[in-house]
Amino acid sequence: MSKKIKWDTIGIVITNLNYEKKKDELIEINNNREWLKNIYFKHTIDWNGYKSTSSDISVSYYILYNFLNIDIDIIDIENISKKRFENSSLVFFLIYDLLESFHNNNFSTHKYITNVLKNSKNLYPPYKYQKYINNKCNYYEDMKKKKINIANSFCLDRKSLKKKNIFNILQQKIKKELTTKENLSFICKPILGQESKGFKKFEKFNKDELNLYLIEQFLKYPGIIFQEYVPGFDKAVLESRVFYCGDNYQYTILTSDKGGWVPKEEGGKKASKNLEKVKKLSKNIINKLPKIVINKKILPKLLTRIDISCCTNNKMFVNEIEFVPSLYMDLKPKNLIDKK
Ligand SMILES: Nc1ncnc2c1ncn2[C@@H]1O[C@H](COP(=O)(O)OP(=O)(O)O)[C@@H](O)[C@H]1O
Ligand SMILES: [Mg+2]
Repeated sequence: MSKKIKWDTIGIVITNLNYEKKKDELIEINNNREWLKNIYFKHTIDWNGYKSTSSDISVSYYILYNFLNIDIDIIDIENISKKRFENSSLVFFLIYDLLESFHNNNFSTHKYITNVLKNSKNLYPPYKYQKYINNKCNYYEDMKKKKINIANSFCLDRKSLKKKNIFNILQQKIKKELTTKENLSFICKPILGQESKGFKKFEKFNKDELNLYLIEQFLKYPGIIFQEYVPGFDKAVLESRVFYCGDNYQYTILTSDKGGWVPKEEGGKKASKNLEKVKKLSKNIINKLPKIVINKKILPKLLTRIDISCCTNNKMFVNEIEFVPSLYMDLKPKNLIDKK
């Protein structure tokens, strides 16, 4: 008797190729990537003279090429709808997500997409998890509760700016929670920020300077994070970008304002003084992140990047957590990216 084949349809929401081109995050279509041999022209883009595509499209074609019982519904941003999502057992977001929509779509499209995501029950990761990760204030607060070291910070929403004496309140809070007599600097960065947009270092509290900054940022962002200034973290101090598939460590990329490197321990040139410690801390964070729950089932995590740097309170701290991160594909041996 022949074994019954189980058929399934999986949805993958793909990002706009031009967004990826802007970020230099494309991959080249070449003979080594045989699953891209018959790629539709509309799924390709010219990148410095090379026919290329995005990694979410590449993953879609890879599954189609290797798993004959799985159909992939490739969903463009323009075709996002609850009904379309319901054709698939699960719909994956691999690059495009609520944050990308916030930064790239106009207000009404973003509102529509947010609504669809909120009301769809088969998304990976689910709306709730996307909201948690997209909002630094949420996970900073959560990490603090779970005893993971973060830089001292507090959050301000748009509404609070209208409070009487808000600048006095801010001045007191900054003094008490973020600065010392020796170090009067602090930084601000927006909730829902991306690629350092809206990041600003203040040398000391100055009402007029802060007011101007807040007015400008609140035109776009719903909230601002105030944080202690970690000396050098905006320049030469290394940030370790640590990648996990599920609960398993994959690789680390070191970055500073001078660029990015593979650590020496993993075949690169840059020494990382504390890679083992970084791996241990990131694993602890992975264990403490919220579970991915879809239809009451806990599913494994797909990809997580945890950004770690040093030091505050004389300890390493977590700066950022992402589920659709840049992979630094240009720095890793190309075959590793393909295999993983
Ligand atoms: N508290 C801080 N002190 C000094 N530099 C910071 C601080 N927080 C962030 N930075 C700098 O700003 C960059 C962007 O901040 P980050 O929190 O990673 O936001 P995003 O990457 O989402 O824009 C960091 O990579 C780091 O260089
Ligand atoms: Mg960052």
